[in-house]
Amino acid sequence: MKRTLQNLNEVVQIMGTQTFRNKIWNPAQAATFNDVILLPGWTSIEPDEANVSTYITPTIQLNIPFASSPMDTVTEESMAIALARQGGIGFIHRNCDIETHLKMVKRVKRAESYIMSDVITIEEEKTVAQAIEIMKSENIHGLPVLDAHGHIVGICTWRDVRFADNNLLVKDIMTRDVITANKDISIDEAKKLLHKHRIEKLPVVDNGKLIGLITIKDLILKGQFPNSSRDEEGALLCGAAISPFDLERAKALDKFVDLFITDVAHFHSKNCFEACKVLLKEIESPIIVGSVGTYEAALDCITKLEGIQGLRAGIGSGSICSTAIVTRAGSPTLFATASCADAVKETGAKTPIIADGGIKNPGDVALALAVGASVCMMGNVFAGTKESPGRLVALEGRYYKQYYGMGSEAAKQKRYALDRYSQPSKIIAEGVEGWVPYRGPLVETVQQFVGGLKAAMGYAGAKTIPELWVKAKLAVVTPAGSKELSPHDIFLPGNSQLKS
Ligand code: XMP
Repeated sequence: MKRTLQNLNEVVQIMGTQTFRNKIWNPAQAATFNDVILLPGWTSIEPDEANVSTYITPTIQLNIPFASSPMDTVTEESMAIALARQGGIGFIHRNCDIETHLKMVKRVKRAESYIMSDVITIEEEKTVAQAIEIMKSENIHGLPVLDAHGHIVGICTWRDVRFADNNLLVKDIMTRDVITANKDISIDEAKKLLHKHRIEKLPVVDNGKLIGLITIKDLILKGQFPNSSRDEEGALLCGAAISPFDLERAKALDKFVDLFITDVAHFHSKNCFEACKVLLKEIESPIIVGSVGTYEAALDCITKLEGIQGLRAGIGSGSICSTAIVTRAGSPTLFATASCADAVKETGAKTPIIADGGIKNPGDVALALAVGASVCMMGNVFAGTKESPGRLVALEGRYYKQYYGMGSEAAKQKRYALDRYSQPSKIIAEGVEGWVPYRGPLVETVQQFVGGLKAAMGYAGAKTIPELWVKAKLAVVTPAGSKELSPHDIFLPGNSQLKS
C-alpha cells in the first residue's frame, strides 16, 4: 500500500533544499494590470500608423486583437457577427445543448459570405406550410428547391409563399427559371448577373448540383465592413468553446466552426491533457487550449500536446471570478501571459497567446500585448454592449446589462458547462452575477479600444504588435502611485469609462 506522509519531518527528502519560509519570502511576483505601467519610449511613429492586426492561431489572422469570452451573457451569434465585422472574433459559449450551439455557429457563418456553402434548401414535394416554417425558423426569405437527385429545379421566395394556399406543394408555386452561376464566378461577374436579372439570390452549381449561394445582401455587407475577419470563402470567422471532455459536441461543430477554445478553469491537469489528446486526433479545426496560468503549464501544453494552436492565459482575474477568493488559487492575466510567452519563446513554438480576464480598458490591452499576448479576450467590456445576450435593465436612471460568471449559480443552473470546474466547485460558486453599465453598440467600444491601443503603441514606439513585444518596457507602480496615475482630486460624475 502507498504510504501517506504523517509528519513534517518526513518531507525532508522530497523538498530537498526548499524551505517553507521561502514560499513566503521568495514567491513569484504575480503582477496584475494595476501593478505596472507602460513606460514611454523613443518613437518615430504616429499612433494612427500603428498596425493592430494579429494572429490568433499560427494561420488565422485578425484585424484587431480582440476576442469575446465564451460566456452566455457575452457571446451568442449577434456578438460573434458584430465583432467579426470589426475584425475580431467571438467564441460562442457552450452553456446550451449541442443543437443550439450549432445553430448559433451556423448563423454566424451564414451571416455574410461571398459564396455561402451551407445552403438551406427545400425539396419540391414539400408543402408551402413547410417552406414558411423553414423561412421563419431560419430567418431567411428564399430557398433553392431541389429534386430527388439534389439538382436545383427552382427557387421559392417569401413572395411566392406569403399568400399561397398552405397545402400547395413547393413545385406548384416556385419560380422555375432559375439563373445560376458556375462555381468559378468572380464577385464582379456575380454582381453583374444579379443586376441584369434584377434578382437577389444566385445559386452556384456544379454539374447541375447546388454547391452554394451568392446573395445581394452578402455582397453589400461585405463592402460595408472592409476590416472584417473572414475565412477563405468570405464568411465571417467564428470560434466556439468546447469542453475537452465533450467529443460529441466538438465533432458536431467541427465542420462549421473556424476554431475551438477549450473552456475549463484549470487546464493543466492529467484528465484535461488525456481528453485533449483525443480531441486533437479526432478534430480538424484548430484548438486553443486553456485556461493556463504558469510557465510550467504552457511548457507542458507545448511539448506534450502536439498540434495545439494557441494558449488561453489567465486564471482568476476575470471581473466576475471569485475563484481566487474561494480557493486563493489563481494566476493574474498579466503574469500568466508573460509566463506563457516565456515558454513559447524558449521552445520556439509558434503558439499565439490569448490574454483572458481582467481587461477593463485599452491600456490593459496594451500591457497584455506588451508581455507577449497576440489577442485579448474580454467578457465584461463586451457584456455591456448592445450585441451581448444579457438582459438590459434600467436602474436608478441608468441602463445596465446582466453579466455573470460561468461558475456562478446563474450559469450553473443551465447545467451545460458544469465540467468547466472541478467536482467540489459544483457545490460552491466560483463566479458572481451582477450588472455592467450599458455601452451602446459594440462598434463604439471597439473604436475606443483600438484608438486607445494605438495611442499606447505610439507611446511605446511600436508600429506593430510584434514590435510591442520587443520594445515595450514596463515599470512597477506602488498603490499610491497607481492612485496618482488615475484622475484624482476631481469630482467625476458617474464616468463609467475610466476604470483603473
Ligand atoms: P472579464 O474580466 O473580461 O473576464 O470579465 C472574463 C473571463 O473570466 C473567466 N470566467 C470566469 N472565471 N469564474 C472564474 O473564475 C467564473 O465564473 C468565470 N466566468 C468566466 C473567463 O476566462 C472569461 O473569459
